Amino acid sequence: MCGIVAACAERNIVPILLDGLKRLEYRGYDSAGLACLRADGSLHHHAEVGKVADLVAGLDSELNAATGIAHTRWATHGSATRSNAHPHVSNGRVAVVHNGIIENFEVLREELLADGYSFSSETDTEVIVHLIDRALLAGRAPLEALRETCQRLEGAYAIAVVMRDHPGRVLGARLGSPLVVGVGVGEHFLASDAAALVPVTQQMMFLEDGDLVEISRDQIQVYHQGLTPVSRQVRISSLPADAIDKGPYRHFMEKEINEQPEAIATTLNAHLEGTRICASLDRDLLKRIRAVHIIGCGTSFHAGLVARYWIEALARVPVSVEVASEYRYRRPAIPDDTLLIAISQSGETADTLAALDRSTELGYLGTLGICNVPESALTRQCDHVLMTRAGLEVGVASTKAFTTQLTVLLLFTAALAEARGADKRLVNKTLEDLGHAPQQAREVLAMDERVQEIAEEIAEKPHALFLGRGIEYPIAMEGALKLKEVSYIHAEAYAAGELKHGPLALVDDTLPVIVTASSSSLLAKLVSNLQEVRARGGRLFVFADRGVTMAPHPRVEIIKVPAPYSTISPILQILPLQFLAYHVGILKGTDVDQPRNLAKSVTVE
Ligand code: M6R
Repeated sequence: MCGIVAACAERNIVPILLDGLKRLEYRGYDSAGLACLRADGSLHHHAEVGKVADLVAGLDSELNAATGIAHTRWATHGSATRSNAHPHVSNGRVAVVHNGIIENFEVLREELLADGYSFSSETDTEVIVHLIDRALLAGRAPLEALRETCQRLEGAYAIAVVMRDHPGRVLGARLGSPLVVGVGVGEHFLASDAAALVPVTQQMMFLEDGDLVEISRDQIQVYHQGLTPVSRQVRISSLPADAIDKGPYRHFMEKEINEQPEAIATTLNAHLEGTRICASLDRDLLKRIRAVHIIGCGTSFHAGLVARYWIEALARVPVSVEVASEYRYRRPAIPDDTLLIAISQSGETADTLAALDRSTELGYLGTLGICNVPESALTRQCDHVLMTRAGLEVGVASTKAFTTQLTVLLLFTAALAEARGADKRLVNKTLEDLGHAPQQAREVLAMDERVQEIAEEIAEKPHALFLGRGIEYPIAMEGALKLKEVSYIHAEAYAAGELKHGPLALVDDTLPVIVTASSSSLLAKLVSNLQEVRARGGRLFVFADRGVTMAPHPRVEIIKVPAPYSTISPILQILPLQFLAYHVGILKGTDVDQPRNLAKSVTVE
């Protein structure tokens, strides 16, 4: 993963690099560093273990430079130490930041060691900087040195390079990892994504795989496959440049959980104009769809699992859902007229993009991206796009992205059902239910204090089991993912009917069993499954909608979710589970916004 940012300007670029890094911290936050070319001709380099704030604290506050590169890291090769932090420097002459993985680094390392280069890190990246240095020493011009180096690399990379003896310019290259050029006035920039650059420019040039780029204050030149100059379109970014701000909240996760009613309403408004649902989707395309495949990772995968229930029940189209990391290596058999839906908050998840890459070869009818980040790779790669309007999601644990994904997926279901001639009343009822979602979400969020009390009991436990049935099963999965992600408690989710096939062996009086229950047709079955837990001394916490009635019992805590059962129940049922994970994380003292070992956007395989 990792985030990179680089700048060439007349003014001091250090604050620009640091602000850019803060905006890229969602890509990794275990160490950060920068390298810049100072006016006296020296190459200054500084890195710190920890977050960008640690880099800022450790940096000379007087540091001033007009050209530089910077990096925030998510460790792949080598642990989070200062020596493994980027930039990597060769002989005080060349500095490199890298996002990606160099698969043949061991061979290259041996070769460079034999040539007299010594290594100060365990990273795969360090070979890049020494290869460039060696090429420069052999008399290559800067771009030629970078081109030769790239030809030797196997794997994925976005690279930015500064060279002490060639000041006033930054070179870049991309293959498999994103790199965008920010086009300024008398100043130019590079970054892993546009979000890092919007405070300094809205004009972006997205590089393509195989591109090399050289930026200086007054010039940008892109080359493709070798050194053939090419031009890339400049697009105006629609990302807001606002400061990333927690407002009145202590954490982004808390803020983002609370923003959901608004985010759902904005998403609904974007795709519902009177009775026109998802107007941007071609009706002829919808009519042709005979099957749907859905791919995604983590929370986005869970959104796909919920959608399967909706699409099959309402539009009567068969659906299969798979994690993109598995799907990308299968040889799936694609029925005629199958639509591929790729779901991703960031639009930059490497596995999802790689899976999507195969869609043409596999013969899909088309691809539909559901994404929260305009201008992301996914939105550029898909034939059709339905944007979620969650706004910037900063917390690593996805919350508002999930409920807005569900909103879009249910709207898509309604559009598909309508195009396929489903009963109009069903479609209208779905839209009516969706219309209630923002207000009902507000009411559910008001139960936060009750959830806090439950959190106190869960926080002491090393494990937790989540159960659900039917469409609530993926909600149990998402609840378990949230808890393990932000509290580090081991949590597993099961379809309640599967209990007696193994997991029941885990149940004793110390294991909290968290259940999401709705008054659906499966309630009676679920209640029987819960009896099995109770009979074995298990402690049950049942998040139940208004229609659920269960007999009180000392081992069963019923937490009433103030919402009726309807098509949109999954959107509401996840809210208390998000709060639960958040409060348990706070009680355990974890970094809920940036949990250990994780990154918001997983841009490597
Ligand atoms: O940006 P994406 O939706 O593609 O990200 C997919 C997963 O990495 C993401 O949902 C992850 O599981 C979240 N941290 C979960 O809270």
